[in-house]
Amino acid sequence: MDKKQIDWGSLEFKYIKTDSRYVSYYKDNQWDAGAMVEDANVCISESAGVLQYAQTCFEGLKAYTTVDNRVVTFRPDLNAMRMYETADRLLMPPFPIDRFLDALDKLVTANLAYVPPYGTGASLYIRPFLFGSGAVIGVAPAPEYTFRMFCTPVGPYFKSGIKPLKLQVSDYDRAAPRGTGHIKGGLNYAMSLYPGHDAHKKGFAENLYLDAATHSFVEETGGANFIFITKDNKVVTPKSSTILPSITRRSLMYVAKEYLNLETEEREVPLSEVSEFAEGGLCGTAAVISPIGSITTKDGVINLPSGMEKMGPITQKLYDTLTGIQLGKIEAPEGWIRTIA
Ligand code: PLP
Ligand code: COI
Repeated sequence: MDKKQIDWGSLEFKYIKTDSRYVSYYKDNQWDAGAMVEDANVCISESAGVLQYAQTCFEGLKAYTTVDNRVVTFRPDLNAMRMYETADRLLMPPFPIDRFLDALDKLVTANLAYVPPYGTGASLYIRPFLFGSGAVIGVAPAPEYTFRMFCTPVGPYFKSGIKPLKLQVSDYDRAAPRGTGHIKGGLNYAMSLYPGHDAHKKGFAENLYLDAATHSFVEETGGANFIFITKDNKVVTPKSSTILPSITRRSLMYVAKEYLNLETEEREVPLSEVSEFAEGGLCGTAAVISPIGSITTKDGVINLPSGMEKMGPITQKLYDTLTGIQLGKIEAPEGWIRTIA
């Protein structure tokens, strides 16, 4: 199969239109059969639930070309499940998990020419989303829904690639206790645009959000969870009911324990403890693992001992093992890899 003429190594995390996408409509209490379509545009009522009351959610996952030239995705069943739970919380009809996986196979198969070749560092980012497309005017769930899945080839999420990032502790809150921080609703990202802009204006790559109730515990960034490494090589990740349960983070904690024999802890992480850590990173599908160089707080700057030049050694091992599994260089745990072609 001929690949598209794309300079794979120079790709950024930007939208590029590909040939086709998957669409299914929900009407009269059921999902239709779904189909691949060429049209990348969406035509909906001016009063659609998504436009008026932000009734929308999304997922993000990647397809990779492996060392033995297969095209695979990483734990897509967990994205399907998380979208199911998110839809439930936003009173949207969940898209069935088996249908999500079938749509994924169809989407990637139809766009194989856009899957970056092995060794380029790039991947095919897949964006499933579900929104209220029927008209509402009173505050209520929409009567009709659309599920779509498209893909776009991408490079690194952060412009600096895998150079350590400068973060600031945000003055804004991301998610309220008993709110929607644990689901992947578009609303969580709409509210993060202003604080994100504030961070970028001041020269920071991202915000570190604290828990909204006490402003003392580390939560996550706008688009990734955290991992930290203690000076005695334990892998620590914040536990909170108001952060998104990252699939990358869950996978890394498993990899740390089962592949690297490291101790792991999922627990509350006070901001006051962060200066004690040896290394830190943002983890997520888009972020992969992006190392942290410094964190600016209202009381001063925390410079992690791993420095501003490269990833810390334990972070690097986690990165190499996770990406090794995704690229077929290291044997994956049962059920983690879905081979599409
Ligand atoms: N946290 C937030 C707010 C995110 O948007 C994402 C990205 O999906 C993550 C964490 C990382 O989750 P995952 O590893 O499942 O991509
Ligand atoms: C992802 O990592 O897939 C996300 O959805 C995060 C977003 C900031 C791009």
